[in-house]
Amino acid sequence: MRVEDFDILSKTVRERSGLVLSKDKSYLLETRLMPVARKHGLQGLEELSDRVRKRDEGLIGDVTEAMTTNESLFFRDNKPFDQFKSVVLPGLMQARAAQKRIRIWSAACSSGQEPYSLSMLIKEEGAKLAGWSFDIIATDISMEMINKAKAGLYTQFEVQRGLPITLLIKYFKQNGDKWQLDPAVRSMVQYKYFNLLESARTLGQFDIVFCRNVLIYFDQETKGKVLDGIAEMMPPDGMLYLGGAETVLGITEKFAPVPGHRGMYQLKGGSPAIVEG
Ligand SMILES: C[S@@+](CC[C@H](N)C(=O)[O-])C[C@H]1O[C@@H](n2cnc3c(N)ncnc32)[C@H](O)[C@@H]1O
Repeated sequence: MRVEDFDILSKTVRERSGLVLSKDKSYLLETRLMPVARKHGLQGLEELSDRVRKRDEGLIGDVTEAMTTNESLFFRDNKPFDQFKSVVLPGLMQARAAQKRIRIWSAACSSGQEPYSLSMLIKEEGAKLAGWSFDIIATDISMEMINKAKAGLYTQFEVQRGLPITLLIKYFKQNGDKWQLDPAVRSMVQYKYFNLLESARTLGQFDIVFCRNVLIYFDQETKGKVLDGIAEMMPPDGMLYLGGAETVLGITEKFAPVPGHRGMYQLKGGSPAIVEG
């Protein structure tokens, strides 16, 4: 790949999504963007780069989407979901007893395993949650992933990663060679296209935000801006979950780790609505 092509493509992807592509990722650009070039009837990456230089917006959208990494699994890392069930949900139910409404944001939801892990957990609480309303808003920059998530169709490999067999049997039906999630569980999640570089104010306030395994792809400045934006959308007792390789330390002054709960963050000066189990 020509250096000037790598430069325009990586610069454009970074501007549009925050994703940083270092020079050693040029092989990744080539393998991911050749199908995009073919889809647009282009000869190769030189022609594709020329069109990006000329600001072909449709093509730029496809280029950006192709460079996202969409790896996800049900109940990823387990711990956040165990905490959600044992300390967060009971804590919020006390704190929101008057409103009986809890709002959750799965920011960068990929193919839906994260929001669906939450909706299955909530469903499992059964009668305890009668009269409560849960808004689970799941967003991503990739329309392909949003559409996959909405369909709720997963391969055998995907359902074998992290999903307990009891939940597979209870909430999924075989559909051809795939497994499809129960429409009632799917309808608990509202999917929307949303770019984390934009202001999230239109999405409303959230008691819990899962922003996991996406900040790792951004530079420090972008991580800080995204986290500061999330802080503005949380009440003082709200909670934020990051991925295992992510932190707020040295990136933003708005959040601090919740002592004793790895991966969970609270607003500085706030007091998270948790009960200690
Ligand atoms: C590795 S997946 C993480 C999925 C899930 N949160 C998890 O932890 O399993 C990262 C997701 O971030 C999305 N993404 C990347 N840049 C984004 C941006 N600027 N705004 C919104 N989503 C973005 C990608 O499309 C991808 O689906």
